[in-house]
Amino acid sequence: GTLPLDLFAAIEDLKTELNAVILAHYYQDPDIQDIADFIGDSLQLAKAAANTNADVIIFAGVHFMAETAKILNPDKLVLLPDLNAGCSLADSCPPDEFAAFKAVHPEHLVISYINCSAEIKAMSDIICTSSNAVKIVQQIPKEQPIIFAPDRNLGRYVMEQTGREMLLWQGSCIVHETFSEKKIVQLKITHPQAEAIAHPECETSVLRHASFIGSTAALLNYCQKSPTQEFIVATEPGIIHQMQKLAPDKHFIPAPPQNNCDCNECPFMRLNTLEKLYLAMKNRTPEITMSEDIRLAALRPMQRMLEMSV
Ligand code: 13P
Ligand code: SF4
Repeated sequence: GTLPLDLFAAIEDLKTELNAVILAHYYQDPDIQDIADFIGDSLQLAKAAANTNADVIIFAGVHFMAETAKILNPDKLVLLPDLNAGCSLADSCPPDEFAAFKAVHPEHLVISYINCSAEIKAMSDIICTSSNAVKIVQQIPKEQPIIFAPDRNLGRYVMEQTGREMLLWQGSCIVHETFSEKKIVQLKITHPQAEAIAHPECETSVLRHASFIGSTAALLNYCQKSPTQEFIVATEPGIIHQMQKLAPDKHFIPAPPQNNCDCNECPFMRLNTLEKLYLAMKNRTPEITMSEDIRLAALRPMQRMLEMSV
């Protein structure tokens, strides 16, 4: 069928009709951020999903985020506008390979970054996000060995911050490993007043040029509060929409990738569009489902995270 002329109004109508809530990550298209009921980083979105009274959750983000919402809300309908919105980091940790890795290290506690599939969560002891990873690792007794999966860059950053050795799964994100150290240094030379800020999923070569490192929500908060007027932002540029809204007089430069492509945008996050969001609500599909065994096993480490990060 044809699409309504005013998608914003049509989506608002469907929200009421379905008693639905739209949760959106900061890496979504600006239009989607503007129609969302709640925008946040992955921890804030998990908390919002845990607390909503809506009957339907439209998750404008990637598959593992919508799965997280379903783990917390088995009785609600959870919709993802495009089921192909995956995540290279989550895909870098296949469940069978991870099970074999875990079996070789039975004495290790498994802390998994929320950017992983429900199967990996089900094999984990505690989940963390980029905004609580350091805080969670600090709460683990010193003598307890830890496996940290799947992001080796966040893992290395947490090791530096806590002084803890951890066994790292060697996964990474295609967006955050693509920023060019050389181009960031050149930008700092041409913009001497600018401050570089970065997400901990970036490589060490990029993180060492950042004066502030944090989750998307932490980066947003930092830009607002810092007296600096200009920032070089080394994370997915969708966040700049909110930075610009909250600090309209400041200047935000997206960190450039190594080659001349647009690959600092997350190709998975950007699969969701306003049109697909409307169609997902209208047709009540694609829906996120999982077996109850996996859900219950994945819920336990999610609940531990929520308890440990209040
Ligand atoms: P945040 O936890 O900072 O929202 O990060 C999510 C993500 O996918 C980073 O690539
Ligand atoms: Fe995954 Fe990276 Fe995209 Fe985040 S930015 S969803 S970690 S591929």
